[in-house]
Amino acid sequence: MYRTHNCGELNICNVNQQVVLSGWVQRIRDKGGMIWIDLRDRYGITQLMFEEGKTSEDVLSVVKKIGREYVIQVNGEVIERLSKNPKISTGDIEIKVSEIKVLNISQTPPFTIEDYTDGGDELRMQYRYLDLRRNEVKQNIMLRHKMSIETRNYLNNEGFIDIETPVLIKSTPEGARDFVVPSRMNQGEFYALPQSPQTFKQLLMVAGFDKYYQIVKCFRDEDLRADRQPEFTQIDCEMSFVHQDDILNTFEGLIKHLFKKVKNVEICELPKMTYSDAMKYYGCDKPDIRFGMKFVELNETVKGKGFKVFDDAEYVAGICAENCSEYTRKQLDELTEFVKKPQIGATGLIYARYSADGTLKSSVDKFFNAEELQKWAEKFGAKPGDLMLILAGKEEKTQKALSELRLEMGNKLGLRNPDVFAPLWVVDFPLFEYNEEDGRYYAKHHPFTSPKLEHINMLETNPAEVMANAYDMVINGVEVGGGSIRIFDNELQQKMFKALGFTKEQAEYQFGFLLNAFKFGAPPHGGIAFGFDRLCSLFGGSESIRDYIAFPKNNSGRDVMIDSPSLISSEQLKELNIRVTV
Ligand code: AMO
Repeated sequence: MYRTHNCGELNICNVNQQVVLSGWVQRIRDKGGMIWIDLRDRYGITQLMFEEGKTSEDVLSVVKKIGREYVIQVNGEVIERLSKNPKISTGDIEIKVSEIKVLNISQTPPFTIEDYTDGGDELRMQYRYLDLRRNEVKQNIMLRHKMSIETRNYLNNEGFIDIETPVLIKSTPEGARDFVVPSRMNQGEFYALPQSPQTFKQLLMVAGFDKYYQIVKCFRDEDLRADRQPEFTQIDCEMSFVHQDDILNTFEGLIKHLFKKVKNVEICELPKMTYSDAMKYYGCDKPDIRFGMKFVELNETVKGKGFKVFDDAEYVAGICAENCSEYTRKQLDELTEFVKKPQIGATGLIYARYSADGTLKSSVDKFFNAEELQKWAEKFGAKPGDLMLILAGKEEKTQKALSELRLEMGNKLGLRNPDVFAPLWVVDFPLFEYNEEDGRYYAKHHPFTSPKLEHINMLETNPAEVMANAYDMVINGVEVGGGSIRIFDNELQQKMFKALGFTKEQAEYQFGFLLNAFKFGAPPHGGIAFGFDRLCSLFGGSESIRDYIAFPKNNSGRDVMIDSPSLISSEQLKELNIRVTV
């Protein structure tokens, strides 16, 4: 028997018991007559004790040869420790070892496998299997497991059926590039890896499955960020005979269930915010509503006083930072530098202090007297002690920059506590998004999203105004999920493809299977998909989803551990009839 117990379960109640443990050697402390080893496994750490003169020479000679990360098995007696460690569950006891066996040796690991490691990011990724032995990373993977189990529990209880959909499919446009796989048996042709199982889940509704879910890998060839991986996991769901509210209620239930079961946090009813309010008050469609500092539009208030920056701007708006009127010159310069960073894109920052003594002073005093500034303060609802921060320029760009400034101020003022969760639904998205570069409309969600029925007649005449039955769930400024009520009518789906610039032939070539299915009694249906990695990282309190994926890719889309992507042999290429020219 390799073990009678694991390394995390023995405590004072087990004193005097004979036990067998197996695990990895985390640390060896040799204090002359006494040697201690921290033995680690998935469950915890148990201290082993060896004493010269008392422990047998055979055992001691083995101990002397052991190094870090050796895999060993020990027999011994549980005894009470003299100096206890309250930080770990096994901290009251140790094992007086009577037998030891080396199950496998180990090279010295390239970094210390402890909570505070000396390993850099790249090195830890290269030896991810060692990184995964570390407590923090292991906890993240275990959190993911718990999230997955609780998701399944909830959805199974609600009558959802887990159905697998294929991975080698035909391209489904969801706004990103496809990863493609060449077919050997059909030379010159390619499969695409699914960006999501969107069309399949809709076909499952046509098939009558009614409530479907899948925790499923999706693949998108897009630029990577902390919250984006080329392969990631969705909790993908679809339901038939539902209206938008049925879906929102069901998945609000899922989120509440997860928070309760995994974090013991009670979530109240989720507020709903329209897309247009999200843009107006927060400058983005995934607002962090843990704190206020809503946008205040100032066009009417500030234009026409001879200040060119305001007069020439399409949009002037600001935020009011409470109790920041005494920000130093240096702090304000830092904020100005922040908004001028290329990725933020503002040309400058205008500010007005409302000092505690009631005086108002701005960075544009030349153009605005105290009376004018008082009007600003009223508009902002500012009180003495507050600081007004204002940006001006093109509407969309300025909203984006002000949104970043708001988040930055939220960070600076400690208003973005990761232990506070503020979920909401963002609803009433526009159906289309105009792309200046190609001068055409794209689907904001995907081409299967239903327009609001009362807007169908504007599909051709006024696409910019058409609203969709689409919704996103946002938590703490992260878009954790999104979905929509679908088009289930062949004719409307064809109209939609037309509005998106598809010819009849292109639509038929790409989506003939779906259009065809809609001819055979497709039920009204809708659904949602949650970014599972994002949910896990949010629950775990980290911004990077990589920490919650066992074997993630780096920012260049590489797996540095297995060194992929990589070249393939000329034989493989030949079989596929592919010629590579670099
Ligand atoms: P969408 O494209 O909004 O919708 O994706 C759903 C959710 O998946 C997460 N997500 C990602 N997570 C990590 N890395 C990525 N590269 C990545 N891309 C997306 C986000 C997002 O909210 N088929 C539709 C859903 C539907 O309509 O039912 C879809 O895929 O959290």
